[in-house]
Amino acid sequence: MDKLIIANWKSNPKSIKEARVIWNDILKISKNIKNKKIIICPPFPFIFLGNVIKNSKIILGAQSVFPEAEGSYTGEVFANMLKSMNVNYVIVGHSERRKLGETDEYINKQILTTIKNKITPILCIGEIRRDHDGRYLPFVKEQILKCLDGVSRLNLKNIMIAYEPVWAIGKNAVREATSEEFVEMKIYIKKVLSDVYGVKVAQSIPIIYGGSVNSKNAKIFIENGADGLLVGRDSLSPKKFREIINAF
Ligand code: PGA
Repeated sequence: MDKLIIANWKSNPKSIKEARVIWNDILKISKNIKNKKIIICPPFPFIFLGNVIKNSKIILGAQSVFPEAEGSYTGEVFANMLKSMNVNYVIVGHSERRKLGETDEYINKQILTTIKNKITPILCIGEIRRDHDGRYLPFVKEQILKCLDGVSRLNLKNIMIAYEPVWAIGKNAVREATSEEFVEMKIYIKKVLSDVYGVKVAQSIPIIYGGSVNSKNAKIFIENGADGLLVGRDSLSPKKFREIINAF
């Protein structure tokens, strides 16, 4: 399977002019890649870039979606609108959105509406801190089970899980995660999934790593079984992003 490199631009850049520059640079990089897929998740105002620049190898993703399918909700965006803009992936459950109040129940509804619209959800899970008693494991298990409530075995095949330990994300990260920590969590996630959905389906679900991914650690996570990388800060610098893409 192609390795996925997902760019989460978060609430950046500040103007369409800058967004175009970054997009075009990544477009150039994408022309020469093999066995890898690049998914860019810009903020909503810049989603249209994925439509005006045609014949691109870049796949379009969004950073959020409203859980309801219809009605009047000022300021919100439905999954069918995203689909009509050629969005194929949506990040849900990101810790920065959980901090704004999104619960597992809310994320579960986002997943159900996303799947219904034939968009692949990238479900972010991860503990806030590591403890020495292993309590972070049941914490993550609860996130998985609640977020996937009501998702059938057939639909699970269209989901990706991104393990993003909150303590390893962003400028204020406590430290980078180690490949051992990722491997342990990947095995654990597969176990939780296989208990509900069976081993075969669980094995087919891609597990992505995210949290301070850079050109130095990208290869290590991929070599240790990550099916892809979710990149925040370093996806906004075409130079750093190119180094990550070329790192493995
Ligand atoms: P970071 O962000 O790469 O800047 O740590 C990752 C994320 O939040 O998805």
